[in-house]
Amino acid sequence: MTQSTQHLIIGATGKTGTRVLENLREKGFSAKGASRQGDVHFDWNDEKTWASALNGVDSVYLTYYPDLAIPKAPEDISRFCALAKIRGVSHITLLSGRGEPAAQVCENIVKQSGLSWTVVRASWFNQNFSEGMFRDYILNGRIALPVDHMPEPFVDIDDIAEIVVESLTDDKHNGQLYEVTGPELLSFKAVADTFSRVLNKPVVFEQISLEAFQQGLESAGADKGAIEALTYLFTEVLDGRNAHTCEGIPQALGRPAKSFDDFVRDNAHWFEGVKK
Ligand SMILES: NC(=O)c1ccc[n+]([C@@H]2O[C@H](COP(=O)([O-])OP(=O)(O)OC[C@H]3O[C@@H](n4cnc5c(N)ncnc54)[C@H](OP(=O)(O)O)[C@@H]3O)[C@@H](O)[C@H]2O)c1
Repeated sequence: MTQSTQHLIIGATGKTGTRVLENLREKGFSAKGASRQGDVHFDWNDEKTWASALNGVDSVYLTYYPDLAIPKAPEDISRFCALAKIRGVSHITLLSGRGEPAAQVCENIVKQSGLSWTVVRASWFNQNFSEGMFRDYILNGRIALPVDHMPEPFVDIDDIAEIVVESLTDDKHNGQLYEVTGPELLSFKAVADTFSRVLNKPVVFEQISLEAFQQGLESAGADKGAIEALTYLFTEVLDGRNAHTCEGIPQALGRPAKSFDDFVRDNAHWFEGVKK
């Protein structure tokens, strides 16, 4: 890849997409951002928008919404890859989810597309608690979720964005699958305790029923797809299959993954207003 390579970031207004777009531009690479509200109009539900988004594009950061586990994802990813190939794209970096067999179907579609590829298979993002739909839990001092003590190795998306940018700009990441996690396993109670300790403000954890969780999401205005994806994650994926850390970040970047403590410390500005 050279400085003149044109990168397309799908989901450019989202948590990882924003960072990838900014990092590429800061490094002097040419990149355009696509989504329903992005500079380039792109909608997974309107295939007519895909071809024009791919005009002149050499490499793509591919994020899907709401989740690669939804039934129509394989068909969308397959059609997108075929179109990308026809339009002259040479490389795709796919953001995938850990422990999701359906997401792995999509990974295989990208791997077998005939294009050069990198897969970043991620655990739960730290930033779900700062920039995502769990932020209100921290602001209100109560994390209420349908989960018990099951731990998760939450990952920081600054690390993910760094790997994605590397993969789009350095051929040595071609053909690599990086399973990326944070450096430690944390239960949601341990997450609440970490927020309490680092922010010096009380945040408690409470296990609630799935029904209460779904009702809360509905009242908060979450769309149907997002509610289904979260239900799948809490009822199926969070069963212990992901309760171990992986070395994807040290493998890709040659340094340790960022810790949850450091995430909370560096993102304290997101939580101003937490109730005492
Ligand atoms: N969050 C996690 O913990 C986590 C962990 C592992 C993997 N992932 C994966 O990461 C991906 C992003 O998830 P997220 O919740 O973190 O996303 P997010 O930050 O909320 O960003 C979602 C992005 O998708 C775009 N988008 C939404 N609907 C779209 C549509 N119909 N067509 C085109 N673009 C659309 C949004 O922009 P517009 O609104 O402008 O369209 C936005 O840029 C998902 O595939 C998810 O499975 C997430």
